[in-house]
Amino acid sequence: MDKRTITFELLVFDSFDELSSIDKTLMTSAIEARENAYAPYSKFRVGAAVLLENGEVVIGNNQENASYPSGLCAERVAVFHAGARFPRVAIKSIAISAASKDYVVDDPAAPCGNCRQSISEYEVRQGSPIAILMMGEKGSVLKCGSVADILPLAFDSSYLK
Ligand code: THU
Repeated sequence: MDKRTITFELLVFDSFDELSSIDKTLMTSAIEARENAYAPYSKFRVGAAVLLENGEVVIGNNQENASYPSGLCAERVAVFHAGARFPRVAIKSIAISAASKDYVVDDPAAPCGNCRQSISEYEVRQGSPIAILMMGEKGSVLKCGSVADILPLAFDSSYLK
């Protein structure tokens, strides 16, 4: 038996103000996108902004539905939007911000498992890492260099022979 430990580097910024100017700009787009989320049921708005290799920024926000499972998270709306508009352009990073109508979200919002899987598809396809920036409404910001960091042992197309 062999025992392995998986670790990854997570950057923790005390606040938005500590981010690089590129990351600040991207996070600002995520915050703006968040405000246009359609979240009448959860009242939990999420915005995401994807930075592409060509400098374009593509946004997404959560889109809920009266039939709850038919809604979609902000991160998937954003990466599918990017895939539809720029199918051959690599994604460099994605910024995420969440806010609630009922309370202050001061913890960074991490993408759900389904969104990690969807982002991973693009990372594997393009062969270069996608950095993830996570923020609530205020407070600290987390950054990891690759979606693989937060989705270890991911399933990908190499299993489908
Ligand atoms: N949500 C996202 O948009 N992204 C996530 O990664 C987690 C959750 C949305 C889905 C739903 O509209 C609301 O937040 C509450 O779960």
